[in-house]
Amino acid sequence: MTHPAGSLLIAQDLRKTYGPTTALDGAEFSIHPGEVVAVMGPSGSGKSTLLHCLAGIVTPDSGSITYNGREVTSMSDSERSALRRSEFGFVFQFGQLVPELTCVENVALPLRLNGSSRKAAERTALGWMERLEVDDLRKKRPGEVSGGQGQRVAVARALVTDPRVLFADEPTGALDSLNGERVMELLTEAARSTNAAVVLVTHEARVAAYSDREIVVRDGRSRDMERVV
Ligand SMILES: Nc1ncnc2c1ncn2[C@@H]1O[C@H](COP(=O)(O)OP(=O)(O)OP(=O)(O)O)[C@@H](O)[C@H]1O
Ligand SMILES: [Mg+2]
Repeated sequence: MTHPAGSLLIAQDLRKTYGPTTALDGAEFSIHPGEVVAVMGPSGSGKSTLLHCLAGIVTPDSGSITYNGREVTSMSDSERSALRRSEFGFVFQFGQLVPELTCVENVALPLRLNGSSRKAAERTALGWMERLEVDDLRKKRPGEVSGGQGQRVAVARALVTDPRVLFADEPTGALDSLNGERVMELLTEAARSTNAAVVLVTHEARVAAYSDREIVVRDGRSRDMERVV
C-alpha cells in the first residue's frame, strides 16, 4: 500500500501478537484529512486491533504510526492520552453512553472533562445533537431511547470536541439496516462538515458504501480494495 503525501495518519508494518495469536502481521494504513476509509475483513482478521493501534489505545509490538508527522508509538502515555482527548473521537458498536446521565449530559461530557462550564458544554452539545437529529432526546437517559437514537447520541458525543479523526468500530453493528443507514448518513455528513477523517470498521458492504475508500484486512495484513461499483 502506498502512503500518499498529505496523509494525516499513517501506519507502516504494524505487528502485534497476543500470546500465540498474531493479530497484526505487517498491516499498513493511511488516511487524509476529511477522508472516510472503511476497514473490512472477516471476524478475527485484526480490524479492531488495527483501529486500537491507530488510535493509540494499543501499542503495537513493532512498526510505525505517525499522526500529523509525530511518531505515536514513541510518545509517553500522557502525550498519547492528550492526543486521544484533543484530536480523536470514538464510537463503538454499543454506544457506551453513561446510563446515569441524560443524553445532553453524555454529549457534553468530553467538554466538561476538558474543563468547560456546564452551560457552555451543554450549548455546544445541543448543537451537535441537532445535527444528528436527537436534540429532542436531550433530557432522556440512554435506557429510554432506541438503539439507533443512542448511536446518534454517541456520534454527537464523539464529534463534540471537533476531533480530526473519528474512529468507529462497527457503529451500526447492533442496528437494523434502516437505522444503520440513518446513523451512517448523519455520521458521514457531520464528519464531512468538519473535515474530520473517519476510520470505519465494518462487516457490512452497505455501510462501507458510505466510505471514499475501502481496505481489507486478512490474517493481520491489509490491502487496498478496488471499489466495487
Ligand atoms: N486483548 C486480546 N487478547 C488476546 N487476543 C486478542 C486480543 N484482542 C484481539 N485478540 C485476537 O487477535 C485477533 C484479531 O482480533 P481483532 O479483535 O482485531 O479482530 P476483528 O477483525 O476486529 O474481529 P471482529 O470482526 O470479530 O470484531 C483475533 O484472533 C483475536 O482473538
Ligand atoms: Mg472487531
